[in-house]
Amino acid sequence: MLQIAIDGHSSCGKSTLAKALAKSLSFIYVDSGAMYRAVTLAFIRQDIDLFDHQAIAAALKNTQVSFKMTPDGNRTLLNGEDVEDQIREMAVASKVSQVATLPEVRRQLVMQQRQLGAQNHVVMDGRDIGTVVFPAAKLKIFLTATVEKRVERRFLQLREQGHFIDPEDILHNLYERDYIDSTRSDSPLKRAPDAINLDNTNLSPEEQLAICVVLAQSRLKA
Ligand code: DC
Repeated sequence: MLQIAIDGHSSCGKSTLAKALAKSLSFIYVDSGAMYRAVTLAFIRQDIDLFDHQAIAAALKNTQVSFKMTPDGNRTLLNGEDVEDQIREMAVASKVSQVATLPEVRRQLVMQQRQLGAQNHVVMDGRDIGTVVFPAAKLKIFLTATVEKRVERRFLQLREQGHFIDPEDILHNLYERDYIDSTRSDSPLKRAPDAINLDNTNLSPEEQLAICVVLAQSRLKA
């Protein structure tokens, strides 16, 4: 099976690119961040203390994350319940990076991500896909964009979902997540040495897709 890894900071447009690339190659798309968000929602609902490793292990045993593929995109399921909209809310966004530092959470989700990649040709986006989940991925892209552009994209995305969030709060959340994601000891966000850097600040979704389709086609042929 073939794997394509797309990594980068929050709100760099990873999912837009990964979804479109998967579609154009007829691969499945897996949003690994959605898996961390679903686990975070489960922990919030159960009021899990993030320093209580026994409670975390017990909660993880009863936490199943899966995806329902629909013509309008994937829906994230938590123990069979569609939580796709809830996991995008600020309550989850403000806790998810902290939950993603927990080694027991990462171990469980990385195992599941590798299973998905063993059974399907996959485009997966996240923070550690090229470095940890699929170190032998056929193509690795490391996406970047300026922080102003990232805030603008996140603001528009949230507004489309009916949430009006102050751009200052979005900026604060991005900085906080960038810091936690890149400095955690287990699988910090970093560019794999063999990843291709792509700054999409001034690229439209169509332009970044066109670049990546060409890259993917040449790598998949090789
Ligand atoms: O891509 P996203 O913003 O939905 O990801 C949510 C959080 O999950 C992000 O702050 C870091 C974490 N994450 C991670 O640690 N590893 C991944 N492969 C994907 C996401």
